[in-house]
Amino acid sequence: MVQRKRIMGALVTASVIMTLVAGCGAKTTETTAASTAPQATKAAEAAKAGDGKITVGFSQIGAESGWRGAETQSIQDTAKADPTIDLKFSDAQQKQENQIKAIRSFIAQKVDVIAMAPVVETGWEAVLKEAKDAKIPVILVDRGIDKKNEDLYTSFIGSDFIVEGQNAAKAMAQHLGDKGNIVELEGTVGASAATDRKKGFDDEMKNHPNIKIVKSQSGDFNRATGKQVMEAILKSPEGKDIQGVYAHNDDMALGAIQAIEEAGKKPGTDVKIVSIDGIKEAFEAVKAGKLNTVVECNPLLGPQLFQAAKDLKAGKQVPKWIKSNEDVFTGQKAIDALPNRKY
Ligand code: AHR
Repeated sequence: MVQRKRIMGALVTASVIMTLVAGCGAKTTETTAASTAPQATKAAEAAKAGDGKITVGFSQIGAESGWRGAETQSIQDTAKADPTIDLKFSDAQQKQENQIKAIRSFIAQKVDVIAMAPVVETGWEAVLKEAKDAKIPVILVDRGIDKKNEDLYTSFIGSDFIVEGQNAAKAMAQHLGDKGNIVELEGTVGASAATDRKKGFDDEMKNHPNIKIVKSQSGDFNRATGKQVMEAILKSPEGKDIQGVYAHNDDMALGAIQAIEEAGKKPGTDVKIVSIDGIKEAFEAVKAGKLNTVVECNPLLGPQLFQAAKDLKAGKQVPKWIKSNEDVFTGQKAIDALPNRKY
């Protein structure tokens, strides 16, 4: 009887100690996470668990352009080369509703980090609140969301689209000798890449009042639509007297080049072309004299994405905006750079 009492007493003591230890562990994890990022990070909890692996769910927009293909490749290749990364990849095929479904599925699977390239800027509040409630940090890759929801993501990795638009405008002004009529082929309506590239271009154009944007229309960031839109513009009254095309991405510029040639004009000479991205085909078009300036936008974001995910896992602080380094290529500079282009 006495012995049974002793055993019971020992068990009670042990269970109290275990509860205290477990309680301390949970508190430490929460404290670390809270000091790391606005959201308490699931990644930091995984680090505590010491499983050594990190699961990242990535919701990609689709495959609308050469640039997008290069970004997907960079993310998948980086994950494949690193045994500590488990990547769950989902292609939304240009639909926001598919991205929202993918994010909900990542939450249900309890991934360590959610990464996404948001197709448009608005409409993310509800699902990102769900990720926040589940304590899963969200990293935005390449495109942003509206400013009022900044607290719903941990970090943004990508370019300054406004600066890209400004650089495109400066190049266009130079090519046109500061006067002329131009067409603007915009990206996907509502995408941060389109909104900000337009804003940057318009801001800089205030310094060049003799350049007029006679037509501005979306080509949805893809080549076929860029070509169709350009064909229609060339047939319209505004399209009869144009000296320049500013395309928000290379694929639309390459489509426009085809349309201009089919209309019997010389792209690069009769109509100056400036575009953004920096895919190899655009550099080849510069070499062929059909495109005048390429403003670079770096899609090779895989290494930065997984570094940020690992830093979160290690309980480190990551910057709110991890900016890409980019350049502008015109004429011989583009031709010289062509052999070393990676995408
Ligand atoms: O968000 C980046 C843009 O999206 C790229 O410029 C374009 O090519 C892509 O589809």
